[in-house]
Amino acid sequence: ALTGCNKKEDVLVVGTNAAFPPFEYIGGASGDEIKGFDIDIVKQIAEDSGKTLKVENMKFDSLIVALNSGKIDMIAAGMTITPERQASVAFSDPYYEATQVVITQKQDDQIHSVDDLKGKHFAVQLGSTGDIMAKTFTEQVTAFNTGFEAMMELKNGKVDLVLFDSEPAANHLQKNPNLKLQKLNFDPEYYGLAVSKDNPELLKQVNASLDAMKSNGSYDALITKYMK
Ligand code: ARG
Repeated sequence: ALTGCNKKEDVLVVGTNAAFPPFEYIGGASGDEIKGFDIDIVKQIAEDSGKTLKVENMKFDSLIVALNSGKIDMIAAGMTITPERQASVAFSDPYYEATQVVITQKQDDQIHSVDDLKGKHFAVQLGSTGDIMAKTFTEQVTAFNTGFEAMMELKNGKVDLVLFDSEPAANHLQKNPNLKLQKLNFDPEYYGLAVSKDNPELLKQVNASLDAMKSNGSYDALITKYMK
């Protein structure tokens, strides 16, 4: 009889968008490895479920389609749990609390509160919660496939600000001293891993692994490893 080692069920295919450090980014010695906080979490989930992990890098706004067409089994992409997304995918228990932040040129002194955002020109990542939120303030929203490209647009003086998630924004600013980050009073957002609504067993496994990681200290070890 055939051994089962190449069966589809033995592989956990996870989709991400590896332009979101420290959650997922391209790095490693060869410079072509996908690494990060989320990747370490899904490694553990794969191990707990006795599967081989395969990570696929794709555009952020194609992740949900890829999941629902069966191309991937799970999304691990710092994805915020929102009611709109919950209509089409099943989220795990929240594993990280974040918020949007505003990034501007360092010398820009125009933004002190959420009210000051009205009518400004925003750059955002396409399909992100920042993109959705930006549209509540203005029609001038330029969306890019990655947050990096949005930051580039700001550096080139083409937009007033970037709206992006707190940790990746802080990560980006370490290399860009001419930009500044402001935490206005935006609501908290909670990241979840997403699976198909047709896969309740996987969802159970994911939540069990997250629970175990939180109680055995390995979740905290990852926070220490990846968050500045
Ligand atoms: N948290 C935001 C959202 O869910 C942005 C996530 C971007 N993630 C990524 N891997 N590029 O919309």
